Amino acid sequence: MVSSVCLAELGHSVDLIEIDDAKVASLNSGRVPIYEEGLEEMLVKHIDHCLKVTPDYDNICNTDATFVCVGTPSLSDGSADLSMIKSASSSIGEALLGSRKYHVVVVKSTVPPGTTEKVVIPEILENRHLKNQDIGFAMNPEFLREGRAIKDFMKPDRIIIGSADDKAGDFIESVYRGLNAPMIRTGLTEAEMVKYASNAFLATKISFSNEVGNICKDLGIDVYEVMKGVGMDHRINQYFLNAGAGFGGSCFPKDVSALIHLAEDLDEDPILLKSVMAINELQPKRLVDLLEKRIGHLSGKRVAVLGLAFKDNTDDVRASRSIYVISELKRRGARVAAYDPKANNSMQSILSDVDYCQNAAEALNNADACLIMTEWPEFSALDREFDRMKTKVIIEGRRILSCAGFEGICW
Ligand code: UDX
Repeated sequence: MVSSVCLAELGHSVDLIEIDDAKVASLNSGRVPIYEEGLEEMLVKHIDHCLKVTPDYDNICNTDATFVCVGTPSLSDGSADLSMIKSASSSIGEALLGSRKYHVVVVKSTVPPGTTEKVVIPEILENRHLKNQDIGFAMNPEFLREGRAIKDFMKPDRIIIGSADDKAGDFIESVYRGLNAPMIRTGLTEAEMVKYASNAFLATKISFSNEVGNICKDLGIDVYEVMKGVGMDHRINQYFLNAGAGFGGSCFPKDVSALIHLAEDLDEDPILLKSVMAINELQPKRLVDLLEKRIGHLSGKRVAVLGLAFKDNTDDVRASRSIYVISELKRRGARVAAYDPKANNSMQSILSDVDYCQNAAEALNNADACLIMTEWPEFSALDREFDRMKTKVIIEGRRILSCAGFEGICW
């Protein structure tokens, strides 16, 4: 969605192909089915002008390029599920049958290194009697953060263009000509690996900060002071050093797991990546252990959980640390009152037997303790609302209130 509205914003004429009829109807009436800042406004600006939403692949043969942006969720063994990539590739191949025009297929989805070459290209060329030169292949990963995706698309740090040949790569460069960013030209598989390695490195920074944070907590010192000093080194930089409940979302847990799986398939033992995941899985449990240390057995206690989304500015709860924290609280017998400014509905379909509240004050009513799980700005402004608690035990999984002296998971 973000790629299509932003490509329209860059002046291109875009057909957004979506196979779910309900989503097509919603988008055509100008409604975005998820919360993403600025997305609906941009959809409304371009729909019916240079952006068309359709379930139909037929028009592909009249276009210059197809960007493949489908999901690659985790399978139960941690590997990437490539079924959507395969089926989209096969539909593109069929739609291009008989086309005489040069067409570039660009993989944007995050896929394990080798996928474009070993899965996408064969799937598209299967049943085609066209020679390879009629069709170009490129891999162009996206680095969009949820909640800030449009800004990240329009102001990227870099544009990575992997291509099988120069013609396909030159075409992708021309698509992004309106953006002011360095363009890195490379091979298809290298481009795929840039995305995995970037996400794995960012996840590593977070788990590293969490491990240092856990040690700082034992020492009674403030990890945020420490990492501020560490991040001043330009070789390290200050980003993604925020210790807390760990990383969630649709990318880091999934992509690090897929890279581990890929490495093991290659007979490697990815010790560092496995530790990154292990630290991340332990953080939510540490938070609940800390709470139990403060208020004793959790059985029958009312615990307010503020924040369900995996981070602020989104309604996405995929792999949110709150899922693990709430499940652990319930396993230990606590009653959970939860509130999120945007994600109550998404969480309701995953976790039942939780008292979902309309605002933070309602969740805090009569609570024995409060855990802060998402860095929503409205939580930093909470003050008198905490007076409604039975006992004022507040523990942060994200550092937002600490200026007021609250205890945190690593501070
Ligand atoms: C990430 C990448 O940043 C983006 O480049 C890629 O395209 C998709 O994956 P996103 O999942 O939207 O983006 O969220 P991000 O802002 O990176 O945060 C991921 C998780 O890490 C969140 O749960 C966040 O709370 C956590 N985090 C982030 C930390 O715990 N500490 C930090 O310092 C930064």
